[in-house]
Amino acid sequence: MDIKIDIKKSGVSLAEVKAFDEAAEDAMDMLWSGKKDFTGWVRLPLEKNSEALEEILMTAAEIQAKCRLFVVIGIGGSFLGAKALIDSLVEEQPGLPQVIFAGNNLSGAYHSTIVDEVRKKETCICVISKSGSTTEPLAAFSVLKEIMKEKYGKKASGRIYAITDEKKGQLRREVHKEGYESFIVPADIGGRYSVLSTVGLLPAAVAGVDIKSLLKGAEIMAKDPAWDLDATNYAAARNALMKKGKKIEIFEFFEPAMEYFGEWLKQLFGESEGKEDKGLFPASLSFTRDLHSLGQFLQEGTPVFFETMIMTGYNKKDIVIPDSAGHPLAGKTLNEINQCVAKGVIKAHEKAGVPMIIIEMPETDAYYMGQMIYFFELSCAISSYINGVDPFDQPGVERYKEEARREILEL
Ligand code: PA5
Repeated sequence: MDIKIDIKKSGVSLAEVKAFDEAAEDAMDMLWSGKKDFTGWVRLPLEKNSEALEEILMTAAEIQAKCRLFVVIGIGGSFLGAKALIDSLVEEQPGLPQVIFAGNNLSGAYHSTIVDEVRKKETCICVISKSGSTTEPLAAFSVLKEIMKEKYGKKASGRIYAITDEKKGQLRREVHKEGYESFIVPADIGGRYSVLSTVGLLPAAVAGVDIKSLLKGAEIMAKDPAWDLDATNYAAARNALMKKGKKIEIFEFFEPAMEYFGEWLKQLFGESEGKEDKGLFPASLSFTRDLHSLGQFLQEGTPVFFETMIMTGYNKKDIVIPDSAGHPLAGKTLNEINQCVAKGVIKAHEKAGVPMIIIEMPETDAYYMGQMIYFFELSCAISSYINGVDPFDQPGVERYKEEARREILEL
């Protein structure tokens, strides 16, 4: 079994999908040509660099043995993928360090709590920044590095890991000076497409994610041409819906552990497609919680959106509802009721005329997450090319970063 993509309820006809065939084929050619900048992620799962993988696993084992707290510092593509993997896949961490994230905001309160934790627990930190110059991770790293030095003295550098560009940037220079163990963010892979590189793999491995299965799932997707059709159909359906006037794609989950996968998707699509006054605004909702806040809008509000529902199948962990709940809940499990609500939502939204794309994951495990990640990366890049934008730049982000830097200089 593999993940399943169903566009039958999207309101997009086969002819409308087919209309994008040529553009989608051109996009695939560009992605696989090996000539386009920032397309290193396309072949990454096929490369099977076992030496690099073993190095990641060895470092993860060393970190697991050395500390009780692992602080991962990074933002955007240097944060969201790892967080999505750990939240969705790690239920318990028996004997493993607690993995927490810093440098993804500039809150003094948030980071004060992390400083307290670092003071209390045996800690290792990993700073991830491709450019090596992003304000949030650099600020958080400076703060935490001082605490590490206070606590471990000269031995602090042996507990600091860095993932950054091979040659450029402030962080790489510091790696050379301080001798931290370091990994490379490949030059031909941009932040939001980097989760299957060391950027996502090292933190995930430390937390106990089976990264070999994760890569296997992605590899299956990358090497089987049947998936190209699913990816191009989904990309075409999104573009057809845009043509019909839809402005928003809402990714929806029935499992709270998938919320950060929604955050990862928002970055992937938002930064890849949202440029030149184009693109769908990517949103995400967590059900059943948000059915009780935005469910009304979804059913009857301004019809500017379509839904991409991500169904994660039955969870391994479940609870039977006791008899005291009475009819009709007693004796059924929470996951069973969750599935019933999901089916009910699909029926109700279909009756309301909401276009829906349904993606099913047979189980929430590393293998299927690997498939999902590669599927969405590929679809997103195809969809961006179809829409005539470069999926791999982010001029808007760079502009805000410059303005913010100027403000900081004036402080
Ligand atoms: O996708 C991207 O390239 C960005 O979102 C970056 O990941 C983000 O801005 C962080 O950049 P860096 O890894 O250089 O610190």
